[in-house]
Amino acid sequence: MTFSAWCVLLRYQPLRICKTPRNLNFFKPAYSTSLPDSMEKPKVLITRNDVPQIAIRKLRELCDVDIYEGSYPMPRDQLLARVAGKDGLFCFLTDRINAEVLDAAGRSLRVVSTMSVGYDHLSLEEMKSRDIKVGYTPDVLTDATAELTLALLLATSRRLLQANAELNNGGWGRCVWGPVWMLGKGLSGSTVGIFGLGRTGQAVLKRLAGFNVAKFLYTSTTKKELRAKFNKDAFAAMKNSAVFINTSRGGLVDQEALVWALQTGQIWAAGLDVMTPEPLPTDHILTTLPNCTLLPHIGSSEEGTRVAMAELAADNLLGGLLEDKEMPQRLC
Ligand code: DGY
Repeated sequence: MTFSAWCVLLRYQPLRICKTPRNLNFFKPAYSTSLPDSMEKPKVLITRNDVPQIAIRKLRELCDVDIYEGSYPMPRDQLLARVAGKDGLFCFLTDRINAEVLDAAGRSLRVVSTMSVGYDHLSLEEMKSRDIKVGYTPDVLTDATAELTLALLLATSRRLLQANAELNNGGWGRCVWGPVWMLGKGLSGSTVGIFGLGRTGQAVLKRLAGFNVAKFLYTSTTKKELRAKFNKDAFAAMKNSAVFINTSRGGLVDQEALVWALQTGQIWAAGLDVMTPEPLPTDHILTTLPNCTLLPHIGSSEEGTRVAMAELAADNLLGGLLEDKEMPQRLC
């Protein structure tokens, strides 16, 4: 029987939320890159300290930079206290930037720059209503995420983590080699479905071209509500041989339905780089299922990619704050 794999990649669609930048804040200062020394530099907050140095250097040249001293998400109370009076905020997908943070920042805040392509942690409507510009980091992580998607697909369908565990837990020693031991499912002759054929979807498709896949199915962009799109009905419609991969956002999946599908054999296996919540508690039921391969949200975790993301996020912040610069990737 051929198997089918569903890769969920929709988040990386080039969705643009706001069409026209509004710049009605006469009362807010605009800075130039050639300000006399005596003039105040824009104040920015970076919410963690393990950011590629190039971004910090760039920001330090032209801004008064306050960096949270931890290499983990900034505690909420600290964020609320230290964002006050800042002109710009450099944040990450682990920082929930909503009305509470914007209120704490006050009217000085003009730009929020997230070092991520995903923006479900940002209250965009609030930002739009306050004329706060928002930057994000599409494109630069497409290749890394596509590579990781492929790695996860192969690891899940060929059971790499289970096989590696057998090596360490004595299973290999007992079996030595077995004609039906550690059987996986190959890509050759399979059908691969891609949910959301955006940047990453297309990059995955391109990479899969060399794997003798028999048929590709795909969906295009949709702006409809996608929360828990992969629910019990969706899994029930899949073949029992299906391998389900998600490198997008955990919220697209009804996780209870996925657990049901994996436990009952409704689908064959799942590989997840994203889930709900993140981090997943170590005793979560998903961690106990042998047919579920879990990764800790590392889609874009590749050296050059993270440097490019950091640099782009810094350029977005500078572009939004300084009069004579542009934001290279403005979301709204
Ligand atoms: C993003 O950028 O949104 C990814 O999920 C992490 O790099």
